[in-house]
Amino acid sequence: MVLSKTASESDVSVHSTFASRYVRASLPRFKMPENSIPKEAAYQIINDELMLDGNPRLNLASFVTTWMEPECDKLMMAAINKNYVDMDEYPVTTELQNRCVNMIAHLFNAPLGDSETAVGVGTVGSSEAIMLAGLAFKRKWQNKRKAEGKPYDKPNIVTGANVQVCWEKFARYFEVELKEVKLREGYYVMDPAKAVEMVDENTICVAAILGSTLNGEFEDVKLLNDLLLDKNKQTGWDTPIHVDAASGGFIAPFIYPELEWDFRLPLVKSINVSGHKYGLVYAGIGWVIWKTKDDLPDELIFHINYLGADQPTFTLNFSKGSSQVIAQYYQLIRLGYEGYKNIMENCRDNMLVLKEGLEKTGRFNIVSKDNGVPLVAFSLKDNSCHNEFEISEMLRKFGWIVPAYTMPPDAQHVTVLRVVIREDFSRTLAERLVLDIEKVLHELDTLPSRVAAKISAAEEIQKDGTTLVKKKSDLETQREITTIWRKFVRERKKTNGVC
Ligand SMILES: Cc1ncc(COP(=O)(O)O)c(C=O)c1O
Repeated sequence: MVLSKTASESDVSVHSTFASRYVRASLPRFKMPENSIPKEAAYQIINDELMLDGNPRLNLASFVTTWMEPECDKLMMAAINKNYVDMDEYPVTTELQNRCVNMIAHLFNAPLGDSETAVGVGTVGSSEAIMLAGLAFKRKWQNKRKAEGKPYDKPNIVTGANVQVCWEKFARYFEVELKEVKLREGYYVMDPAKAVEMVDENTICVAAILGSTLNGEFEDVKLLNDLLLDKNKQTGWDTPIHVDAASGGFIAPFIYPELEWDFRLPLVKSINVSGHKYGLVYAGIGWVIWKTKDDLPDELIFHINYLGADQPTFTLNFSKGSSQVIAQYYQLIRLGYEGYKNIMENCRDNMLVLKEGLEKTGRFNIVSKDNGVPLVAFSLKDNSCHNEFEISEMLRKFGWIVPAYTMPPDAQHVTVLRVVIREDFSRTLAERLVLDIEKVLHELDTLPSRVAAKISAAEEIQKDGTTLVKKKSDLETQREITTIWRKFVRERKKTNGVC
């Protein structure tokens, strides 16, 4: 999305050296050029600009797949001109989507009889999936309240303060109050007991995350389910649970099959997962699955007639590409359970190599867990001279993209760096990254503290012409460092890239 801003004089043209064989004048940056240019020139200009993007394989900020097998790339390119929504014209693509929905529903232990098909849909990603799941909960709750003759204008949803921004979007776009359980230092996921305390008669659902975006930790869905069952029994409500398994949905079934987090739990009514994260497909695919057809109100479903048969759909957009659906089907049949398990185990092993390497430096606290999404989130034991933002900044020099960010309330004084381990992040790269982090630490140790200098300048208080320097506690200093860096990052309009 582009938000308007005033362009400076030097911003308004795109200059190109090579392409000047074809294009003698600079291209306007924000207005459509008057004339056509040769295809070679268009290619050259765009390709040259794109060289300045980061290398996706070294982008350790993202959970999203950056490598697939060439055979799958071929299938995707062959389907690039197929609009998924033309079900009459592309019935096989529709069939592949339906197969994916059913395979994923079985993976999540949906209670399906032998001849029953699953209820779910392919989306652009987990965000769209969450909007759809949220809408279903809202409509179900409203229908029930209307039938009981009770007010239905103040729905709320209970989550941890660690939820991904898509939950805030859902709340704002669809007018549902978001009630967030605050975090605390050392505990960075939703506390199930506190979440259940916050549930009231207007709560449409509690959303738990299987794999917190911030530190990869799995929330305790089983405990949440048990506590909420008790509360429902006491109050007569039937508050359900949604599991945001954007990352964990393609991890837990393979390497933690005993963990109860899915449709085995009675209150879990819907689950989303990103096909483009550990589903191992390039960006543009997510899934939402409902436990039974009763969990998706009928009035939200649109019926499209395809090949004389009824094809129910429930999505926010109409048109979309087919390639990602086909790629998801490829991964599911190519890898099978065995293949996904091997890849997830490999990611976990590489995560441990990185974690142990970082621990050996003696400079970091690890804030991620071994049994979650394979990532390492870590903060400096001592950030009084240099901090995590500086490390992130300096790692760019080596090509690594490692985000630094502050935790949400009430742990906002804690800053972490996060490295996501994907299939294409090898052990060699993990070892290389540790070496580069050591180099950065060494370099920082030899530099004067930029932060301390800023703080002491800000500390000087003029009083009766004299300068008074106030002494601060370590925690106060640490909080101030975080505030200064937040401001620094904001001023440079740099985003965290936590996705
Ligand atoms: C827990 C969680 N939920 C939802 C999302 C949004 O997912 P998507 O990018 O597939 O829309 C993310 C993205 O990182 C996430 O980590």
